[in-house]
Amino acid sequence: MRRPIVAGNWKMHGTRADNARLIEELLGGHPDRAAAECLVFPPFVYLQEIGRLVRDTPIGLGAQSVCAEAQGAFTGEVSAGMLKDVGCSHVLVGHSERRWIYHEDDQLVARKFAAAQSKSLVPILCVGEHLWDRENGRTEEVVSRQLDAVIDLCGVAALESGIIAYEPMWAIGTGRTATPEQAQAVHAFIRERIGGRDAKIAKATRVLYGGSVKASNAAELFAQPDVDGGLIGGASLNAEEFLAILAACGSR
Ligand code: 13P
Repeated sequence: MRRPIVAGNWKMHGTRADNARLIEELLGGHPDRAAAECLVFPPFVYLQEIGRLVRDTPIGLGAQSVCAEAQGAFTGEVSAGMLKDVGCSHVLVGHSERRWIYHEDDQLVARKFAAAQSKSLVPILCVGEHLWDRENGRTEEVVSRQLDAVIDLCGVAALESGIIAYEPMWAIGTGRTATPEQAQAVHAFIRERIGGRDAKIAKATRVLYGGSVKASNAAELFAQPDVDGGLIGGASLNAEEFLAILAACGSR
């Protein structure tokens, strides 16, 4: 049994008041009734406050990135221990915006995955290809490389307490969602790739889909056998929309 997850990545949006209001609205929408686990990923500076608001509620808290180092002279960075300290249970590593805009490479992402686990945070490893990779038939090559970097550094057993999110870059914030068949094909490939190392872990690992998920397309994506929920960007900033996505996941 893989319990599905619906996670809202708020990216760099909203004021302190907006973020607090969003969480109040989500809590008012009874996320406890959903079959899926519900997680939110607010901007760093609001984590502590949101952490207080979600304590002892069914909403889990995560950060959008983490430093690969444990502590020291790394100006501007935030460590896994600090995230744990303010109540985070999860953290995104290798989000495509981190890879593409901030040039985080596969090895750095793998070290971030390890840093998160060293503090008992659950890393959500984001993988996904550019449009030009897909058009040149290189989706599986790119996703394998991103996945293998983590398995090579941390071992396949590390995936047992991690989560994977497939986010094709051409679908992020573009309104162009992968079709359920396209998502399923890559999710099945990811499971197969992990299965090449360990069949039991492949079966147990949750693989989320992200990229222009909305209330109107969530159910058909989540109905795919290897899609274990979603990582939601834009649509997670609207409580009603996000709660509808959460409900759609519950009904899979
Ligand atoms: P959108 O849902 O806005 O396409 O963003 C997806 C994403 O990047 C979630 O991490």
